[in-house]
Amino acid sequence: MSNKNKLQRFAEIARLPNVFENFDFHDPHINDIQGNRMDIKGNWNKLVFQKEKPIVLELACGKGEYTTHLAQANPENNYIGIDIKGARIWKGATLADQAGLTNVAFLRTRIELIQSFFKKGEVSEIWITFPDPFLRDSKSNRRLTSHPFLDRYTDVLKPGAILHLKTDDPTLYAFTLKVLSERKDYRILESTDDFYGAVVPTPETHLLTFYETQHLAAGKKITYIRFTLNG
Ligand SMILES: C[S@@+](CC[C@H](N)C(=O)[O-])C[C@H]1O[C@@H](n2cnc3c(N)ncnc32)[C@H](O)[C@@H]1O
Repeated sequence: MSNKNKLQRFAEIARLPNVFENFDFHDPHINDIQGNRMDIKGNWNKLVFQKEKPIVLELACGKGEYTTHLAQANPENNYIGIDIKGARIWKGATLADQAGLTNVAFLRTRIELIQSFFKKGEVSEIWITFPDPFLRDSKSNRRLTSHPFLDRYTDVLKPGAILHLKTDDPTLYAFTLKVLSERKDYRILESTDDFYGAVVPTPETHLLTFYETQHLAAGKKITYIRFTLNG
């Protein structure tokens, strides 16, 4: 994407009522569209969605396919897509805005900051969709299913809440199973190294993301793990 297009998307994002952002480890807060500071931690349902519903996150959401499609299919939940890249979030946020979806928001930030924006037990479910695998061992702590990230998720999830990981990367798939086996209180509800060969299709599990479409076209197998971290 050209720089001009990116700049245009950033300008449009600033006008979208469903996008919030913060990158500041030292001052992790978000502003509303008028620039007013929001005390968001523990208050997403009250301040953003204005309705008390279970909150579902899509981490590394990119263009937010799971966030927008699941929100449309499940109006009984509130969905928040999280990614660092604004030009990608723009796509999902624009679609959600045009469709008039009131149960969708996007948060542009580092997932490392998740505990700054959600209080203990505020989140009911997490989708992690095709995260970067960070294949070098020296970067394994940046994988979104490494121990430091799973600790952060445990801190914001309700007890027994479900997490889903979809990835095309066999290394990340094996790494995640190993990391889980090293933890207490985890449960693997389903795991497969050939998702489309194994999992009975539902509209929820068989939703294709942008990257997934490319991986499938390249003949790659998709892997999937459904698990809990805390009971
Ligand atoms: C390979 S893309 C997948 C996007 C989308 N889920 C899909 O399947 O099309 C990985 C995404 O993770 C985001 N990402 C990676 N590390 C992140 C982090 N620590 N915090 C927030 N976003 C991150 C990147 O910006 C990128 O959009």
